[in-house]
Amino acid sequence: MPRPTLSVRLALLSLSALTLAACSSEIPDTHPEQPVTKRQQAFKAMLRSFEPMGTMLKDRRYDPDAFARLANELASLRERPWSHFGPDTNYPPTKALPAVWERPADFEQRRTSFIEASDRLIAAAAARNEADARSAYAEVQDSCKACHRDFRR
Ligand code: HEC
Repeated sequence: MPRPTLSVRLALLSLSALTLAACSSEIPDTHPEQPVTKRQQAFKAMLRSFEPMGTMLKDRRYDPDAFARLANELASLRERPWSHFGPDTNYPPTKALPAVWERPADFEQRRTSFIEASDRLIAAAAARNEADARSAYAEVQDSCKACHRDFRR
């Protein structure tokens, strides 16, 4: 890949500065148990395992053992966010939409699709099967996106 030009690099730099500023000006989570903070952290932790798997597949650098390790991490993290969506936890700084609480059966269906797709990903990773891992990865990614489309700002 060609080296980014100076102007592109400067643009990227100011973009990340903006992102940082946006984060630090966020409304604090003042609730005693901090369910919003806890579920956001749980989602971020899932992303930290999930994203490197995608990078590996995209760059065609599939490393079966590293991939399996990341899939196991995802397996241990994928149940964490859900218990923090209790009643009365729709308050700022949440990015969840009211639909989470208004249509709980639909939210649960999205959650189940995600769990099932990630079952397939975890199995493919354990079997060291790159082709299956690739298709299962795409399914999991679609399941994250489908839920975000309906239930996240
Ligand atoms: C069943 C629905 C659902 C599924 C499936 C789901 N998410 Fe989310 N996700 C949400 C909701 C709702 C929020 C907003 C939480 C909040 O701000 O209170 C969110 C927030 C996030 C955030 C932002 C956290 C923050 O700090 O604001 C990340 C990152 C994220 N999800 C990643 C993922 C990834 C990666 C997957 C799939 C591997 C995934 N999510 C699957 C519903 C889902």
